[in-house]
Formats: sequence, C-alpha cells, structure tokens
Amino acid sequence: MKSDRKRIKGTSLVEMRGVKIDGYSDDRWHPIVKGIDLTLKRGEVLGLIGESGAGKSTLGLAAMGYTKPGCRISGGSIAFDGVDLVKASPQFLREFWGSRVTYVAQSASASFNPAHHLMDQVVEAAVNHGIMKQAEAEADARDLFKRLQLPNPDTIGNRYPHQVSGGQLQRAMTAMAMSSRPDLIVFDEPTTALDVTTQVEVLAAMRRIVEEFDTAAIYITHDLAVVAQMAHRIMVLRYGNLVEEADTRNMLKNPTQDYTKTLWAVRKLEKKESVNDDIVLRVNAIDATYSGAAKVLDNVTVNIPRAAPLRLWASQDPANRRWPAPSPGFFRSARARSPSTASRCRPAFRTATARRCRRSK
Ligand SMILES: Nc1ncnc2c1ncn2[C@@H]1O[C@H](COP(=O)(O)OP(=O)(O)OP(=O)(O)O)[C@@H](O)[C@H]1O
Ligand SMILES: [Mg+2]
Repeated sequence: MKSDRKRIKGTSLVEMRGVKIDGYSDDRWHPIVKGIDLTLKRGEVLGLIGESGAGKSTLGLAAMGYTKPGCRISGGSIAFDGVDLVKASPQFLREFWGSRVTYVAQSASASFNPAHHLMDQVVEAAVNHGIMKQAEAEADARDLFKRLQLPNPDTIGNRYPHQVSGGQLQRAMTAMAMSSRPDLIVFDEPTTALDVTTQVEVLAAMRRIVEEFDTAAIYITHDLAVVAQMAHRIMVLRYGNLVEEADTRNMLKNPTQDYTKTLWAVRKLEKKESVNDDIVLRVNAIDATYSGAAKVLDNVTVNIPRAAPLRLWASQDPANRRWPAPSPGFFRSARARSPSTASRCRPAFRTATARRCRRSK
C-alpha cells in the first residue's frame, strides 16, 4: 500500500476558525453556520449533535473543504493537516476527497450504484487514487468486511447492493470509506435508518474500525445515545451557532447550557405504552426465502394496531441472524442477470396461515 503520510495520534488534524457558511434561498444569502471554531486531533472522534437544520452536515462537509451546491464559505479558515482548504485548488481537492477524507452518508442505498457489485465500489477510491492495486484493494476489502463483522466476508463483495440488508450495506459503506485509509471520515447520521439492534452492531463496528486505524472522525447525529457511544468529545449546535462543547463524559454528566439540558431531558422522557386492541393488520408466522436458498424470515408474527407504530418481533438468537450458506450457483446466477432482472427475483413467501388455507381447501 502506498502511504507516505506521517500519522501521529493526538496531533492536530483539522483547525477551523470562525467558519461562516451561507446558503442561497429566496433570492438572497442566509447565514447557516455563524462563525464556529472546531479542532480535531488524529484518532479523535468528535460528535456533532443538534436539532434538524442546526448546521451539522454543513459544518461536517466544510471540514472536508466541501460545500453543498447553493452554499458558500463566507468567512474564517479551515486548515487540514496544515493545508488551507478554503484556498485549495480544485485539482488538490479532487485528489484529496476520497483519499484523505471520506464521507459516510445517511442513506447507504442512495450512495451505492445499484448496477455494480459492492466490491467494485468499495475499492474504487483506493484504486483510482493509486493507494492500492486492484487485487490488494480487494483483499483488503475482504479483511475490512471481516473486521466489520459482515457475513460471508470473502464473497459478500460479489453481491449487488439490493442483495444485502440495510445494516450490511451501511457496514459496506464504512469499508468503502475506510479502504483508502483516510485521515478523516465524516459519518453523517449513518445509522438513523436502522433498527435499534442493528444500529448498536453497526456503531460498535464503526467505533472499532476507526480505533484500529487511528482514524479521526466527525460523527453527526441528533441522537444522544449514539453520540455517547461513538464520540470522545461532543459539540452541540443550534441555529448555526455552537451551544456547548465538552468531552463526552462531562457533557453527559454536567451539561451547562439550558438547550443541552433540554436535549438530555427529552432523551430521558419515557413514552407511555398505550394499549390498543384495534388491530388492523395481523400477520401470522411468516417464513421467507430468497431463491430457495437464504431464509430471511423465520416464523415472524406482526400485529399492527390502528394509529400506532409498527412493532416487529423476531428471534434475537444470533445464530438465526447469520446469513445462511447460499446454495451452489446462487451468486453466479445472480451475477449473470442484469441488476434489473435480478431485482425482479422476489422472495418466496410461505406462511403458516397460507399453508393452513391450502390444507383446508
Ligand atoms: N443548499 C442549500 N442552500 C440553502 N440553504 C441550505 C442548503 N442546504 C442546507 N441549507 C440550510 O442550512 C441549514 C442547515 O442545514 P444542514 O443540512 O447543515 O442541517 P443539519 O443540522 O444537518 O440538519 P439535519 O439533522 O436535518 O440533517 C438548514 O436551515 C437548511 O435549510
Ligand atoms: Mg444533516
């Protein structure tokens, strides 16, 4: 692997001073980020937390020297390892993005091209930036899949994005972000779309991998529990301003600002369980199997009451959560089809109810 960078844990990586960012809407520029200082050291995970519209994504992207279309940096400085990103040339930034900084977005499915295998996309940045040769990058990706505890790490890269679960795709995206061994990864609410159990697994995998490689990370979220699990230090943002900043333990124990205390208090509020017997959908004992090979649902029962959140119960037995061994030719036949025809494969549903219906005829 080509790497001539000196990485010394604890040395300064990102220094943002008085950063101001404007967004253009209604025929004029509006301030979005209003003069924020941010410091990030190598190997450190910084949590950015705050309500929707606080400016978290805008600030996280700015740490990579990037602004979304319709936004501009209107003041301050952003130094990355001593380089002023505000004044950096487009050529520098093209080389910089994807090699020294990478981004893990909220929607993994929107970030992968559905027409290409996972492996091709995971190794693309490392190969295109000349950090690794194709074969080395693929071997490394399989190792990353293993470290991220993806099932079948040696073959999962041969699947299309639609052939893995949401949590698995999110982990594949982390592998993609890690493949070029960047100095900084910006995680922008990457687990929001996942269920709680999967979220915990994915977060643990992300935390482990940034620690293993001493990668600095900015972890953006509106979820306190998530940021507590991930970050060494937390910055609370509101309306484009910094409300409060402290190391995670202090921030959780002794928030000093009223706004932060409110965030913490809201988190602690327990929603009362309402008893609602007006069930509008009952699904009983469903099994589902893909192409006669991988069993994905095993005896699942779902009851959905009127005007209540969907509740799903499934076995928590880790053995049942593993991807079952595919039948011979499963991947080969899936690859041979175009993605559009592959996506037409539907799981074969078998339900106890359906079986009973057939028996009773
Ligand atoms: N391209 C844009 N042009 C103009 N205004 C924008 C643009 N993108 C974002 N904004 C505005 O900037 C503010 C901050 O947006 P940002 O996406 O950084 O918020 P956020 O804290 O990440 O919110 P969320 O948690 O919902 O993702 C919002 O008020 C938004 O409307
Ligand atoms: Mg955002």
